[in-house]
Amino acid sequence: MPVTVKFRVGIDDTHHTHLDAGRIAAAEGAAAVTLHGRTAAQRYSGSADWSQIARLVDHMAGTGVPVLGNGDIFRATDAADMMEQTGCDGVVVGRGCLGRPWLFAELSAQLQGRPVPAEPTLGEVTSVIMRHAELLAEHDGEKHASRDIRKHVAWYLRGFPAGGEMRRQLSTINSLDDLRRVLDPVRGSTAKAVDADGARGRQGSPGRVSLPHNWLDDPYEDFVRVTEDVEDAANNGG
Ligand SMILES: Cc1cc2nc3c(=O)[nH]c(=O)nc-3n(C[C@H](O)[C@H](O)[C@H](O)COP(=O)(O)O)c2cc1C
Repeated sequence: MPVTVKFRVGIDDTHHTHLDAGRIAAAEGAAAVTLHGRTAAQRYSGSADWSQIARLVDHMAGTGVPVLGNGDIFRATDAADMMEQTGCDGVVVGRGCLGRPWLFAELSAQLQGRPVPAEPTLGEVTSVIMRHAELLAEHDGEKHASRDIRKHVAWYLRGFPAGGEMRRQLSTINSLDDLRRVLDPVRGSTAKAVDADGARGRQGSPGRVSLPHNWLDDPYEDFVRVTEDVEDAANNGG
């Protein structure tokens, strides 16, 4: 089973750990590594620093372990730009596919030099929503699926002229029938979304990172202590 490893740039701007993390992952046999170009302290604020992905690519050269870039890919051209600017081997998408599963077809076309498919119409999106809800229901049961799909519907409809009343009703559906009924009036709509391929999902502000006690103290101090413990244990036959 190939195991991949994903990490951020580090704890904060003064504690970057990604280069060490990449090397350690390679030494431990990781099949690929992914870097999200933000520190933990940044959470989702600001923008991902793709230059750190480029640094990791350089640092991993010669290991044979592919480096995948991650952070702020919301449209097909973003993936191509990231690969060109950083030299990474591939990309990983997080928030960009929330309510936009067709993004992967767009990325694939863009990266293979094929024409990028047209964005779906509102009517087409209603079919995708129903299919998504049916699959969720198969997986989790209809009751749970009907609640879970509500947040996806909000993402799916972003930028579409769905109207406040329809959105309100969609946020309270309790069954697949409810969903079908509320979406029915726009099933044939050919409307296109406005600005649906911009940033989506969590953004927010930076925050303090909770770390284990003494985490940032001199790491070699602990190393010595651990070594002594191990020697003691060995001497005692433990
Ligand atoms: C719904 C959702 C679930 C996620 N789950 C995980 C996870 O389990 N493990 C992880 O390392 N990152 C997870 N992430 C973070 C993403 O993998 C990614 O690093 C981050 O969202 C930045 O990429 P983006 O700008 O494409 O969103 C998740 C993100 C989203 C939106």
